[in-house]
Amino acid sequence: MRAACPGAASRAMELAGGWCALSLWLLLCRLPAPGAAAPAQSAGSVAVGKFWHVSDLHLDPTYHITGDHTKVCSSSKGANASNPGPFGDFFCDSPYQLILSAFKYMNESEQQVSFMIWTGDSPPHVPVEELSTKMVINVIGNMTSTIQSFFPDLQVFPALGNHDYWPQDQLPVSASEVYSAVANFWKPWLTDEAISTFKKGGFYTQLFQSSVSPQPLRIISLNTNLYYSPNHVTLNITDPANQLAWLESTLEISLQKKEKVYVIGHVPIGYLPFARNTTAIRGYYNEKLVKIFRKYSDVIAGQFFGHTHRDSIMILLDEKENPINSLFVAPAVTPVKSVLQRESNNPGVRLYQYDPLQYSLLVFISLHSSHGLHWPPIHMPPNGAWGKDLWQFYLNLTDANMKNESNWKLEYILTKAYGIEDLKPENLYEMAKQFTVPHSKLFQQYYNNFIVSYDKSIVCEGDCKTSQICAMQYLDNSFYTDCIQRG
Ligand SMILES: *[C@@H]1O[C@H](CO)[C@@H](O)[C@H](O)[C@H]1NC(C)=O
Ligand SMILES: *[C@@H]1O[C@H](CO)[C@@H](O)[C@H](O)[C@H]1NC(C)=O
Ligand SMILES: *[C@@H]1O[C@H](CO)[C@@H](O)[C@H](O)[C@H]1NC(C)=O
Ligand SMILES: *[C@@H]1O[C@H](CO)[C@@H](O)[C@H](O)[C@H]1NC(C)=O
Ligand SMILES: *[C@@H]1O[C@H](CO)[C@@H](O)[C@H](O)[C@H]1NC(C)=O
Ligand SMILES: *[C@@H]1O[C@H](CO)[C@@H](O)[C@H](O)[C@H]1NC(C)=O
Ligand SMILES: *[C@@H]1O[C@H](CO)[C@@H](O)[C@H](O)[C@H]1NC(C)=O
Ligand SMILES: [Zn+2]
Ligand SMILES: [Zn+2]
Repeated sequence: MRAACPGAASRAMELAGGWCALSLWLLLCRLPAPGAAAPAQSAGSVAVGKFWHVSDLHLDPTYHITGDHTKVCSSSKGANASNPGPFGDFFCDSPYQLILSAFKYMNESEQQVSFMIWTGDSPPHVPVEELSTKMVINVIGNMTSTIQSFFPDLQVFPALGNHDYWPQDQLPVSASEVYSAVANFWKPWLTDEAISTFKKGGFYTQLFQSSVSPQPLRIISLNTNLYYSPNHVTLNITDPANQLAWLESTLEISLQKKEKVYVIGHVPIGYLPFARNTTAIRGYYNEKLVKIFRKYSDVIAGQFFGHTHRDSIMILLDEKENPINSLFVAPAVTPVKSVLQRESNNPGVRLYQYDPLQYSLLVFISLHSSHGLHWPPIHMPPNGAWGKDLWQFYLNLTDANMKNESNWKLEYILTKAYGIEDLKPENLYEMAKQFTVPHSKLFQQYYNNFIVSYDKSIVCEGDCKTSQICAMQYLDNSFYTDCIQRG
């Protein structure tokens, strides 16, 4: 593990020579109110933490450009690729070159991140007989070394996806060849204790010690694939791999120790925003998890998922409809869609900015226009206040293929795109309410971001919009059903 360098102060750090100097400098700047007021408000204290989130890489090693478009990639399952180019195709999973371009961009951005979260799904979407345990393990190993080659010293917190197993979705409730092989790949990132629970059930918890906060951040990486509806192994099991009991006791200890927790996982809780009345995991487990997350919402500073391949937000409400938690679903790197789907997503990766003292996903208003902005310089606002936020980056796949150039760029800055102050649950909830206004331009923006700028001309109104809005705000069955019935 490596000491975290809080990104915002990187310039100062370079000048002062390392993170020890930074800590000293922060200490001096913050002297008037140690650990008290929000640091963003006191002029001169400029700490911001950053971390990357990547998800759903779905490498398709068979991808190659050829005249017969049915043969470009196995993941198109016999369909014609639409417009295959060096960076991929909307009917195919990721060519290796697309994945390399994403990590290269992240590496070259020189953002001083303190860690990365990686929420799973490395193998391609292909028929079961085209993969094997060995191939799945190889792909996960390949993605692990690829990340390590671009970020040799970075702490990565991974989570398993439903495709990170063979046969897909059937992740088991006890030790297995895949858990054990993957644990070996991830040893450079995880503690012995984390490796030990991971080998038994594909989940773990680990502390992240920030260099500026006396309080460590606890990461809880859940194996939500155990709750995924197509997982037959866990049918009728009340608490697969005893993960729910483990989660509750882990959160209880965190509460007592006054820790802050980020929950990460692949399959999200809540309802799918693009389908009516459908939870991503089985309803039974969803209700249980919602209950646990409500009970421990004070310790949980953020929740981060993948799997849907789309960019979405959820706000967990308590029984009295007070917003208590912010949940984020990151879009995929793979652009794949099936022939039945109208829309897909451009490849995306994202950067979160957080308060390294509280770990809350606060924010401030960026000075720059988000459009057409490449790597924004690390900019110091005039009054010395630094902000925390969510920056979504994407590759316009059509454009990249056309120009044979991987021109990754900033898609949007969350607070700026939706005009909110920060990512706290109450502000996201307010934002969701504004979306409900008929023909809301803000909601249209949200939907465009949902599909990672795949096609600006696609409009989401009527039932499409109702599903989106209800899924954003209501994660349990009774509230969700009420919302849908209100229309
Ligand atoms: C990962 O897979 C790609 C594509 O199949 C291959 O070119 C590359 O050599 C592999 N890398 C490693 C480290 O296995
Ligand atoms: C793929 O495209 C070719 C050429 O346009 C066409 O002849 C063929 O029927 C298509 N195949 C499929 C499976 O759509
Ligand atoms: C980028 O990759 C190079 C080569 O592996 C590495 O030395 C460097 O530390 C990386 N930069 C970041 C920001 O991780
Ligand atoms: C689960 O329970 C149902 C209903 O009790 C039963 O029909 C089914 O066979 C069970 N499945 C498994 C895998 O135990
Ligand atoms: C939603 O799904 C649940 C469980 O599948 C079912 O019991 C309920 O009737 C459905 N509600 C609506 C409004 O379709
Ligand atoms: C993506 O690139 C294509 C081709 O250059 C362009 O037509 C399209 O407008 C671009 N999309 C976005 C969201 O910029
Ligand atoms: C795309 O660019 C790469 C180098 O960046 C080059 O090797 C390759 O030949 C180019 N492909 C095409 C089709 O121009
Ligand atoms: Zn996926
Ligand atoms: Zn998945």
